[in-house]
Amino acid sequence: MVITGAAGFIGSRVAAAAARAGHDVLAVDAPDRALAPGTVRRRWDALAVPKAELDLASADLSALASADAVVHLAGRPGIRSSWGAEDAIRRDNVDATRRVLAAAAGRVVVASSSSVYGSAGRDRPTREDDPLAPASPYAASKVAAERLARRRPDTVVLRYFSVYGPGQRPDMAFHRFAEAALAGRPLPVFGDGRKARSFTHVDDVVAATLAATTAEVPDGTAINVGHPEPVTVRAAIALLGRVLDVRPRIEWAAPVAGDADRTWADPARARELLGWTPRIALADGLADQIAWHRGNLRHAETAPRRRSALDPEDAGHLGNVGHLENAGHLGTAGHLENAGHLGDAGHLGDAWHRESATAVL
Ligand SMILES: NC(=O)c1ccc[n+]([C@@H]2O[C@H](COP(=O)([O-])OP(=O)(O)OC[C@H]3O[C@@H](n4cnc5c(N)ncnc54)[C@H](O)[C@@H]3O)[C@@H](O)[C@H]2O)c1
Repeated sequence: MVITGAAGFIGSRVAAAAARAGHDVLAVDAPDRALAPGTVRRRWDALAVPKAELDLASADLSALASADAVVHLAGRPGIRSSWGAEDAIRRDNVDATRRVLAAAAGRVVVASSSSVYGSAGRDRPTREDDPLAPASPYAASKVAAERLARRRPDTVVLRYFSVYGPGQRPDMAFHRFAEAALAGRPLPVFGDGRKARSFTHVDDVVAATLAATTAEVPDGTAINVGHPEPVTVRAAIALLGRVLDVRPRIEWAAPVAGDADRTWADPARARELLGWTPRIALADGLADQIAWHRGNLRHAETAPRRRSALDPEDAGHLGNVGHLENAGHLGTAGHLENAGHLGDAGHLGDAWHRESATAVL
């Protein structure tokens, strides 16, 4: 089984679980293409399965042809960072997917996203046949990748909903909240905290993904992989406070253009076709993720300093500058935006949000 994006948050868990389940795994990634290349490179180096460092948008992909299944998780994730990064998004999410679909000979499982739907309604969860309404370059790239996937036989599209858990990407909400809370800083929240998400634990996502490599599924079918109970950001923060036994302080920031008010997964198709239903409740999953952050903190405090004190990633678990690394690979606009929520540069970030929102609407 080939797993692309295997150095990433979800891919590394899928690769480890597939190896544990007895599959012959080939991990594929191009860590320098990641949003957080330092973190991803270290995870890549530690990954204990056979690996091939391949840029899927340009490398020879003949290694994919001998696999029974390719799980295609590589790409450029994230709505916020996709504004201003349209070329990179097209390259890593659409061009790379086209090449993977062409190079593979067996089943391909393609990672898509709940963002293809735009916002869910209030009266019922989103079903796979509901109209698509992508509202960001990232969501549009996933719609384009899905369209490519539908043209190829033996392909399954998984629409993941807000994945969290150990190893979560540094640009994602719970990661930023947990790091802030553990450092005694206010939690940086975009918008008013009333947005609701079908937060889904990464180990549930791994189970659905592995099930999709062999399940009998009509070609090109899209399947929601999301927890059926949406939770608001405010409620998730309250849970986080309980796990940490602190009363979180919040630093409100302008909402992100293209970010849905609500995602809400209808899980019926996943249950029917994959025999999958999410098992991990948010309170337990958050405790799991916090334990991972605490482990990182202990590591950062006790590890001998091999890298420069100014290395932004080393500083990542110790203070605000940690996520500057992520910003560095997003182009100028992305840089301002990500940096905006990390400290003094805050107003640049907010101004950029307003600007991009104006440009888009
Ligand atoms: N995390 C979520 O909540 C979520 C939600 C919906 C969809 N997804 C999708 O799931 C997939 C995995 O997401 P993640 O959160 O693990 O992201 P991630 O950034 O941690 O992992 C993506 C990996 O893809 C690799 N990559 C990027 N471009 C590449 C290229 N051209 N060639 C080879 N490798 C390349 C990166 O190096 C990285 O390791 C992505 O396709 C993402 O869009 C994620």
